[in-house]
Amino acid sequence: MSDLRSIGVFDSGIGGLTVVKAVRDLLPNEKIFYLGDTARVPYGGKSATTVQRYSVEMTQMLLGEDVKAIVIACNSASAVALPNLEKTLSVPVIGVILPGAKAAIAATRNRRIGVIGTRATIKSGAYERAIHSLDSKIDISARACPLLVPLIEEGWLNDELSDRVITRYLEPMVRERIDTLVLGCTHYPLLADAIARFLKSNVKLVDSAWNCAAAVQDLLNRQSLRAPAESSGGLEVALTDAPDNFLRVAREALQLEIGEVQLREVMHGAPAL
Ligand code: DGL
Repeated sequence: MSDLRSIGVFDSGIGGLTVVKAVRDLLPNEKIFYLGDTARVPYGGKSATTVQRYSVEMTQMLLGEDVKAIVIACNSASAVALPNLEKTLSVPVIGVILPGAKAAIAATRNRRIGVIGTRATIKSGAYERAIHSLDSKIDISARACPLLVPLIEEGWLNDELSDRVITRYLEPMVRERIDTLVLGCTHYPLLADAIARFLKSNVKLVDSAWNCAAAVQDLLNRQSLRAPAESSGGLEVALTDAPDNFLRVAREALQLEIGEVQLREVMHGAPAL
């Protein structure tokens, strides 16, 4: 049994392309339809209710593209919208929080894990819940880092100002002796080199992209949804507003082949969760 339909992936903007990169590398014969909500990015400073509504609208638009599964490649949306989407969608859906939590637990030795993310993600407590559901004895230090997404979108990936902001956010966590740091926002892997420079080799960095790709592979296998082995796969990108600078940043930093970007109008009025 095989299924030629695309995997639908969405994010508030372009950050989810870090997840797409991992899925492309692991499952090269799968087609991916990526939808970035550039008209309404960022999600990270918005209320849970608003992010839930946006997430329903994005998934409805992906279902309109006849996707076989949906990946929420946004921590903020996964944190507040995944449980209800899992219950209501007609196709399987995967978020990024649980894969990130599993990766962090596998990496930590001293059982002190730091989590950084947007305000929406950190306020939701979703990482604490996911990590503690797997191991209740782990100490977690969580911190919202709202200045990182704009720095990344500006392309300041190796920049003195970004280094100072990283130091300011992470110093207290280092004092708390974390040995593992979860990059709990799909933008952050683009700053991984700068973050690693500050943390040196004392703290392991974990992002959900690889674990999320592995979870997608597992799901497609279990539900007999894999594309045929001989299919060549591909990536289509659609945005809800004109692409900004960050598309160039992501293209260069991730070395992703992105063809023509399509524009889609947000489908308002999706059913409430
Ligand atoms: N990529 C989003 C996330 O993973 C962050 C960007 C935003 O604030 O919309 O949370």
